[in-house]
Amino acid sequence: MEENRLKNIVEPLLAWFDGNARVLPWREEPTPYRVWISEIMLQQTRVEAVKPFYERFLEALPDIPSLAACPEDRLLKLWEGLGYYNRARNLQKAAQVLVSEYQAEMPPDYDAIRGLPGIGPYTAGAVASIAYGIPVPAVDGNVLRVLSRILTLEEDVLKQSVKRRMEEQIQAVIPKERPGAFNQALMELGATVCVPNGPAKCGVCPLHGLCLANQEGRTGEFPKKTPKKARKIEERTVLVIRDGERAAIRKRPDKGLLAGLYELPNLPGRLGREDVLRQLEDWGMVPVHIRPLKEAKHIFSHIEWHMTGYAVRVAQLEQSVQEGLLFVEPFRTEKDYPIPAAFAAYTEELQIRLGQEKYEAEIGL
Ligand code: ADE
Ligand code: SF4
Repeated sequence: MEENRLKNIVEPLLAWFDGNARVLPWREEPTPYRVWISEIMLQQTRVEAVKPFYERFLEALPDIPSLAACPEDRLLKLWEGLGYYNRARNLQKAAQVLVSEYQAEMPPDYDAIRGLPGIGPYTAGAVASIAYGIPVPAVDGNVLRVLSRILTLEEDVLKQSVKRRMEEQIQAVIPKERPGAFNQALMELGATVCVPNGPAKCGVCPLHGLCLANQEGRTGEFPKKTPKKARKIEERTVLVIRDGERAAIRKRPDKGLLAGLYELPNLPGRLGREDVLRQLEDWGMVPVHIRPLKEAKHIFSHIEWHMTGYAVRVAQLEQSVQEGLLFVEPFRTEKDYPIPAAFAAYTEELQIRLGQEKYEAEIGL
């Protein structure tokens, strides 16, 4: 039974934590504000990387009112180096809510904490248990890894149902007197002993006699993660359309992939020269020259573009009628019309051509 196995880890884990907890700045004086800031910084950043930023941040913004009132530029400057700047913006939004609705105090209540901007179940659990001694779980990826090994969880730990079940199981065994220490002990074990990269250090683990994966010699099998779905492959044909001075670009839709950015005109599929010429005619353009460009690939998280391209010289772009196309001088794409790196192989062509033309102009060709 999972629950019995977890009940048995509580005492040895707490005893181990008492003797082995790292000295960390937010553990010295675990006020709600200090714990909260540390947990937000630690969300996507390792402990060692957080340390220097943490002290500086706390010195500059020592309490909830100062965070709520900080000018955004200064806030983002203090956050520089930590990345994921939305964390900082949400911190400030939450501080402003605390000032206006909670007398500038973090409320000693899990649900109220959970309702603040930027705070999910894990962070709410960590703040409530560490700062207020409220017995609630704080289950993140590290804790799931440890639990998946102790219990030999055969299911994908990324499944919400698995995470929820683990939260329920921890809730059932969490010690009422020391919930914050227990949650941090699980995190600490995950960070220093039951590590993510390389083999778990079962020889020095306080739970080695209680851990099913260790007993079965299967620690390397956990946590189980089902392989990500293969990315979808999309063929596209990208057109670098120029007249004497300008190039054709267009704005992408406001939603979806690369929303709101600009792009070189492109068409689905891997088109041949004839198809491209027909399309250009439909757009009211008069091509005078067309030349194939090299192939290129761009990988997004869920999709891959496999691209081919053509450089097209047309007569007088402004005479073409196609709605949605803009005709701009290529140098302006750098400043005013951000074209994403996905098109780099073809925007490069734009710049090269531009460079050549400048040169040709200078030497009077
Ligand atoms: N990672 C996230 N929260 C932590 C904490 N309180 N101590 C150590 N590592 C952590
Ligand atoms: Fe992790 Fe090994 Fe400890 Fe099990 S015995 S919890 S696998 S370090």
